[in-house]
Amino acid sequence: MPLVSAKEMLTKAKAGHYAVGQFNINNLEWTKAILLTAQELNSPVILGVSEGAGKYMCGYKTIVGMVNGMLEELNITVPVALHLDHGSYEGAKKCIEAGFSSIMFDGSHYPIEENIEKTKELVAICEEKGMSIEAEVGSIGGEEDGVVGMGECADPNECKMIADLGVTMLAAGIGNIHGKYPENWAGLSFETLAAVQEKTGMMPLVLHGGTGIPADMIKKAIDLGVSKINVNTECQLAFADATRKYIEAGKDLQGKGFDPRKLLAPGFEAIKATVKEKMELFGSVNKA
Ligand code: 13P
Repeated sequence: MPLVSAKEMLTKAKAGHYAVGQFNINNLEWTKAILLTAQELNSPVILGVSEGAGKYMCGYKTIVGMVNGMLEELNITVPVALHLDHGSYEGAKKCIEAGFSSIMFDGSHYPIEENIEKTKELVAICEEKGMSIEAEVGSIGGEEDGVVGMGECADPNECKMIADLGVTMLAAGIGNIHGKYPENWAGLSFETLAAVQEKTGMMPLVLHGGTGIPADMIKKAIDLGVSKINVNTECQLAFADATRKYIEAGKDLQGKGFDPRKLLAPGFEAIKATVKEKMELFGSVNKA
């Protein structure tokens, strides 16, 4: 099946009280592991691409070519959206042109008026092209230069303003952060989430920073209207751990263990296992 917008899969998820996972990709192995797992579990999936990962993988056109090729060659029949993660205004336009099926415009650092103006323009383009678009209100914290910023809580009225512009899904900061959560993390603000949900109605809400959020909090967030959950760091940790074990066991020195197809296999399997665990937790299995 060719790439699809995330609109239908998220509308269904919101109505069915489960969430679709967005898993960020970094290379061919990552992409293949996520697509095969989604197919095996009959789950819809969103492939996330940050601007940094986009550069690393030789640009958005290369990624579109790789993903479209895999959908065909691996006979992927579950719904797959290719989504720009935390896109700038310029990045969003490039992805639209390159053939992505979904974008996130992260205007959370602009004053609300400018965020609205730019979001409106991109909503109109996406509508015309049948693409989905995610907006963000209340910036999501995380580690930058070794300093972990705490996640902000979005203003529910601002969320309503942005939701009313016609975006497909909305990321609202509820104390979540990217990367590992610090020891003193206060947890998700369900109060904020409930207030945002009340103001935005059927709009699918997005939870960023899915790595390391305890299962009970994930389930409660889904109950309160979250229908898309982003996971990145957890796949990276799983990949690194499995690769390190392979090397520490000296397996790259045995026979042809240095062959990248062998060297990267444990990391590949570890990503598959992580994605499977998340899809089961999010409830998207058999929802394709
Ligand atoms: P983590 O890296 O914390 O899983 O967050 C992923 C994310 O939110 C991508 O936008």
